[in-house]
Amino acid sequence: MIDLHSHLLPGIDDGAENWDESMEMARQAVADGTTEIQITHHILDNSQYQKLEAQILEKFAEMRRRLQAEKINLKLHLACEIYYQPDMELAHQISTFNHNGRYFLVEFPMQGIPRGVDDIFFQLILDGKTPVIAHPERNVGILRNPSRAYEFAQRGALFQMNAGSLTGKYGDGVAALATALMNSRLIHFFGSDGHNTRSRKVCMGEDYKLVRDLWGDRVANRIFFENPRLALAGEEVKVPEPQPVEAVKKRKSFNPLQLLRKLAS
Ligand SMILES: [Fe+2]
Repeated sequence: MIDLHSHLLPGIDDGAENWDESMEMARQAVADGTTEIQITHHILDNSQYQKLEAQILEKFAEMRRRLQAEKINLKLHLACEIYYQPDMELAHQISTFNHNGRYFLVEFPMQGIPRGVDDIFFQLILDGKTPVIAHPERNVGILRNPSRAYEFAQRGALFQMNAGSLTGKYGDGVAALATALMNSRLIHFFGSDGHNTRSRKVCMGEDYKLVRDLWGDRVANRIFFENPRLALAGEEVKVPEPQPVEAVKKRKSFNPLQLLRKLAS
């Protein structure tokens, strides 16, 4: 699997605390079936590039060396998780996936969808950039009005879902929205959003199995392998026609983990 979203380097943000933890996270990812991972630390505003970029580049190179020395077979890619700002700078070395100048990972505040974002994205898309919106299933604005996700996708934005959302880790409401977004073909990538070795691991194996079982091999391959490969290379991601999002209800009876166990048995 290719994981597009992680906080793997030590001492940058709320991700790994030290090299021991970073390396253990890498081992966990490999054991779970991840072969490639993109490192995406938080950039909260443009001023943080000055503070963090050099450090991130340095630690990224060191992480590569350490993986090689320990013979851990995990290919690294580098970008960042940009907290949405109307004046986001995308020319920095870590702004876009592998500095390809095209795909960038952007997160909205959890409480809603920022005003004016449609116009800003429209300009960026015209300029050849592709926003990849991180974890839409955890955004209250999209939860209240899921058709906003459809509108973003129609205009050329893509979406990355977090591991654990579909499997119920974040509750029934998130699982129901995650399911509806999948049904509407609005999810293009997955990411572990892994922060540590305990509560937020760099693992997506359960999610992959669930997607494969519920939506089939083709969809799972596209989301966990083909799409991220293309985006990391800066190439066009082939996007299926999105469909309007069905009404999302909190389904108490729906427990994807139970379903997963059932399917696996
Ligand atoms: Fe993140």
